[in-house]
Amino acid sequence: MPATAGRAPGAEPERMETNDRKLRLAVVGCGAVAAIHHLPAISLCRSAEAAVLVDADAGRARDLAARFGVAETATDHRSLAGRVDAAIVAVPNSLHAAVTIELLRQGVHVLVEKPMAVTVPECDAMIAAAEAARAVLAVGLEFRFFDFSLLVRNLLRDGLLGKIRRFEMHLGVIPRWPFATDFLLRKETAGGGVLADLGVHVLDLLLWWLGDWADVEYRDDAQGGLESDCELLLACRSGETGTVRGTVEISRTHNLSNSCFFEGERASLEVGIWDPDPEIRLLLADREVVLAGRARRPGGSGISFRDAFVRQIEDFAAAVRERREPFVPGREGRRIQALIAACYDRRQLLELPWSVIPTCGEPVS
Ligand SMILES: NC(=O)c1ccc[n+]([C@@H]2O[C@H](COP(=O)([O-])OP(=O)(O)OC[C@H]3O[C@@H](n4cnc5c(N)ncnc54)[C@H](O)[C@@H]3O)[C@@H](O)[C@H]2O)c1
Repeated sequence: MPATAGRAPGAEPERMETNDRKLRLAVVGCGAVAAIHHLPAISLCRSAEAAVLVDADAGRARDLAARFGVAETATDHRSLAGRVDAAIVAVPNSLHAAVTIELLRQGVHVLVEKPMAVTVPECDAMIAAAEAARAVLAVGLEFRFFDFSLLVRNLLRDGLLGKIRRFEMHLGVIPRWPFATDFLLRKETAGGGVLADLGVHVLDLLLWWLGDWADVEYRDDAQGGLESDCELLLACRSGETGTVRGTVEISRTHNLSNSCFFEGERASLEVGIWDPDPEIRLLLADREVVLAGRARRPGGSGISFRDAFVRQIEDFAAAVRERREPFVPGREGRRIQALIAACYDRRQLLELPWSVIPTCGEPVS
């Protein structure tokens, strides 16, 4: 990680030694994801503890601090230098870049929630700030920490299916999430609709499993606002097997199968994608009987969202301690942002049930 302007070349920001003690964490943004996922997970971590809770709404920070036994609260992340080693940034999407860059400049390592930012130049500026500060920048894409995600990656990469012919992904989830604010409903604070929100998780999995994207066609239902439904025709560069094409359908207006299907020359694979412990089904070509089961580590049982958040924070803390890259580094958050930006650039209107206007005399069905 190169040194930067503003600091002597090669010099690192002053940081507290973290080898023999727990990483002192701030959580910036005390809304739903902090309350439901991050704080319960931190309390289960061996290598990290919550030291300061920050929210623009002082009452929200105080409430969560009381619930989780955190000693300090603040209303401004700029007051964190010297008080913590690292921070989880869980504010509205449009603030991810500014808050992260400010923290990195203070020498605070950052795990930023998904989506990494709302534009690619913002992602670039975040990566540059991390390099300049020699700090860890991790992106919160906890689906990568599910056991099934790793198993699917290995099955695909080890060539179990033979050459992959095509894939199909369907994700439809009607939100029932107790947001503290309305940021997700406004373009200027969310940055995008369902693609930038739910889509980030599953597109990240797809690229992690198959390889980087090469081309995309995109349709959604946004007509000046935020999209609720979208479809991608995606081509991925799939390692030794060349380009593989498939479709991705994402919705927040209706439930879908929440699954991904890969058709290969030798076998097909079907897996759930919105469940931390889904069934995986393997069908050998030209055979009638399916092999169905769940991903398990030796002696382990099924994992939950909570376990994935714990793993994500433990990995972040280890990356800080060992001065290594986190499991999901900034450039991989940027890769998804680049795909999302390409989708929005190439946007076409999705065919909507009401967009076919019957001609005069034709019955309306
Ligand atoms: N990884 C996941 O599975 C997952 C799940 C849900 C949300 N998220 C992400 O987490 C982020 C937050 O989502 P949420 O559901 O908690 O939203 P939310 O609306 O419930 O909470 C946002 C919080 O940020 C606070 N805030 C706003 N501006 C601030 C500032 N300048 N400084 C400090 N605090 C500020 C608000 O007061 C609020 O408490 C979003 O980026 C979202 O995409 C990730």
